[in-house]
Amino acid sequence: MPVLTVVGAQWGDEGKGKIVDLLAEQAQYVVRYQGGANAGHEVVVGGQNYVLHLVPSGILHPGTLNVVGNGVVLDPDSFLAEVAGLEKQGVKAKGRLFISPRAHLTLSLHKALDAAREGHAGQTTIGSTKRGISPTYMDKAGRVGLRLADVVDPAYCMEQLKTSLQEKNVLFKHLYKSKPLTAATLWKEIQRAAKALLPYMADTEGMLNSAVKGGKRVLMEGAQGTLLDIDFGTYPYVTASNSTAGGSATGSGLGPTRIGYVLGVCKAYTTRVGEGPFPSALSPKQDQQLRELGGEYGRTTGRARRTGWLDLVALRYAAQVNGLDGLAITKLDILDTFKEIEVCVAYKVNGKEIHHFPATSAELAKAKPVTLKVKGWNAPTTGARTFAQLPKLAQSYLKLIEKFTDVKVALVSVGAERSKTIMVDSKLKSWKF
Ligand code: IMP
Repeated sequence: MPVLTVVGAQWGDEGKGKIVDLLAEQAQYVVRYQGGANAGHEVVVGGQNYVLHLVPSGILHPGTLNVVGNGVVLDPDSFLAEVAGLEKQGVKAKGRLFISPRAHLTLSLHKALDAAREGHAGQTTIGSTKRGISPTYMDKAGRVGLRLADVVDPAYCMEQLKTSLQEKNVLFKHLYKSKPLTAATLWKEIQRAAKALLPYMADTEGMLNSAVKGGKRVLMEGAQGTLLDIDFGTYPYVTASNSTAGGSATGSGLGPTRIGYVLGVCKAYTTRVGEGPFPSALSPKQDQQLRELGGEYGRTTGRARRTGWLDLVALRYAAQVNGLDGLAITKLDILDTFKEIEVCVAYKVNGKEIHHFPATSAELAKAKPVTLKVKGWNAPTTGARTFAQLPKLAQSYLKLIEKFTDVKVALVSVGAERSKTIMVDSKLKSWKF
């Protein structure tokens, strides 16, 4: 089936924007299936920078139809501002962008709650993006959320809002010492956005299933990364959705049997933004060096990312829980000037060597990296367009990744522009999965 799921294989920020943009050139549909405005996909096209938060990257390709799936939490204000910004840059969205009626809405209520929880003493600081993501998914699971399709039914919306606020206002008033919210104010907020949002609503589940039946190419664009997944990530320092490949089925309405290929995107090193354990973190001096070389600052929040050597234990785990068919290694060129590079191949916890990815953040926080030192290629890679054109030591580095994870390197990125790419797996060109 020509359905390709692209997931982050680390803690997000793996450079998925560029990979998705590149593959979207061949796709007829591009789908966002989880997360919300917490994502920040940066794409450089013709020297122009686009940062997308909710809109699928396929929007930058005129022939592509774009879907915001049921698994996404949609912030109406953020979505409409993003669409307006794109139209200003000459990108047409109307008639090419569709939202599932089942997508839950992120309201000011959720953003206020996210910010209040993050700043409150006695609560675990997750380092969230404060985009209201977790509170929206809480309401979804708590069955008090509102979905896009609901906005045409004022009575139902008011009932859901009142039920939700019954609990929330106790928190706002007594725990967070802030002003309680009213259902009427939130309903006004929804009404303001509804008129502009409803033209984008469509039967996206039906649309995607018909597309697959008709042999159309569908690209599923993951946000965040495996280690931020609510089930498989470094809980509780995770996002609130399934950012692993399974989420592309539950968040789009295409069954798992329809997915033909899962591509895991992974930086040639590791970064993490927000709180939580990070075993292969570099020393402060090296951290600063790699951050500057790689431009490692968050696209959504501008926060500095922590940097580390490539963690192969975590990557092998990501390969397993996603069922990866191939790896896209990004930012290989950032390592071009290193004389020596390390990779993490095991952890030491309480003096004992372990080879699996721990289930708890407490254990991962104790993990000391066991690293393997390899010689850097110390030569530019940005001009390479085939695997063979890469410096021999860079080839060895990629082969080491393949051997350790048992997943082939399907694509290598050696610069931000589309052209600076090595397509290794021909299936990614032919879409014959
Ligand atoms: P939330 O998704 O805003 O609730 O944030 C939960 C955690 O996920 C925090 O550590 C965030 O920094 C992280 N996070 C959320 N979205 C992204 C992303 O797109 N890239 C990297 N980290 C993210």
